[in-house]
Amino acid sequence: MSPAARALTQTLRAQPSMAVALDRIAEAFAAAGIDTARLDARLLLSAATGIDAAGLLARMNEPLDKAALDKLIGFVTRRLDREPVSRILGSRGFWTLDLAIGPDVLDPRPDTETLVQAAVTACRQRRDEPLRILDLCTGSGAILAALLSEFPNATGLGTDISPAACAIAQQNLEAAGLATRGEIRIAHWADGIAGPFDLVVSNPPYIETSALAGLDPEVRHFDPQLALDGGPDGLTAYRAIAAALPKLLAAEAGKGTGLVFLEIAAAQAADVSAIVEAAGLTHIEVIKDFGGHDRVVSGRGQTEGERVNLPLGRRAKTD
Ligand SMILES: C[S@@+](CC[C@H](N)C(=O)[O-])C[C@H]1O[C@@H](n2cnc3c(N)ncnc32)[C@H](O)[C@@H]1O
Repeated sequence: MSPAARALTQTLRAQPSMAVALDRIAEAFAAAGIDTARLDARLLLSAATGIDAAGLLARMNEPLDKAALDKLIGFVTRRLDREPVSRILGSRGFWTLDLAIGPDVLDPRPDTETLVQAAVTACRQRRDEPLRILDLCTGSGAILAALLSEFPNATGLGTDISPAACAIAQQNLEAAGLATRGEIRIAHWADGIAGPFDLVVSNPPYIETSALAGLDPEVRHFDPQLALDGGPDGLTAYRAIAAALPKLLAAEAGKGTGLVFLEIAAAQAADVSAIVEAAGLTHIEVIKDFGGHDRVVSGRGQTEGERVNLPLGRRAKTD
C-alpha cells in the first residue's frame, strides 16, 4: 500500500462523517494527480455505501458504517493506484446503456459516442429497416449494442480476436436484451466474415506502439495492450479493415450502399482517409468529437454502377 493510501486509510478508520470522508478522499486523489478527484470520490463513496447522489447529500453528517468503510478503503486504495472508477465498479455508462467491463476489454470512451451518433444520424431515414451491422474489434460490444438499441429491426455481428472480450460483449448484448439480434464471433480483423453489411463500424487499436509507454497510468496499466496497440504507425488495423471492405459492404440494387464509420486518433484523419479511399470508398468525411478533434472517418461503398464504371485503378481492390 502506498504512503498516501495508508494515511487515507487511517483517516477513514476513525469513521468520520461521510462529508469529512468525501473531503479527505478528494484531497488525496487530487494530490495523487487525479483530475476528477471530487467526482471520483463521490462515485466511490456512493458505490461503497449503496446510497445514490441525492441520498448522500441528505446523509452527509452520518458516519460511515463498518461494512461500507471496508469497501470504501478497498476502492480508494485501487483508485490511488490509478485504476479507473469504471474498472473498480465493473461497469461503464455508454450511450444509453450500462455495460459490464473487465480486464480484457477497453473501457469504452465517451469519444466513441461520436461514432455512434454519426452512424445514427446517417441512417436516420432507415431507422426501421432491417439494417445489417458489422462492428469489427467490438471489445465490450459497446458500439454494436448502442446501434442495435437505436435501430429496432437491425441485426448485427460483433467480432474481436480476444475470446475474453467476446464473452463480455455477449454478456452485454444479453443484459441489454439485444442478444436475439446480435451475434458475437471471434475473428482476426474481418477474416472469414461474409457480407454484405449496410453499416460497418470499428474502433480498432490505433496507438503507435512507441507511444504506449507514454499513456496515462489509467490507460497504460488497465486497458489491455491488445486494445491499444495499432502497430508501428498506428495504422495496421485500418489497412486490414480497408482491404476487407469491398467484400463486406452492401451494394445491392434498391438497397443502397454500405456505410463505414471508423474511429481514429486526432492526427490520423488524412492517413485513414487515404487508406479507405484506396479501398474504393467514396464520400469520405472526417467527423469531429465534442472536444473539436478529428475522431471518425466515414465513407460509402461503391454502388453497383460505380463498381462497374470506375476506371480499373480506382476500383476496389477485390474487383
Ligand atoms: C480500441 S478497442 C475497441 C473496443 C470497442 N469497440 C470500444 O469502442 O470500446 C480495440 C479492440 O480490438 C481488438 N483487436 C485487437 N487486435 C485485433 C485483431 N487482430 N482482430 C480483431 N480484433 C482485434 C481488441 O481485442 C479490442 O477489443
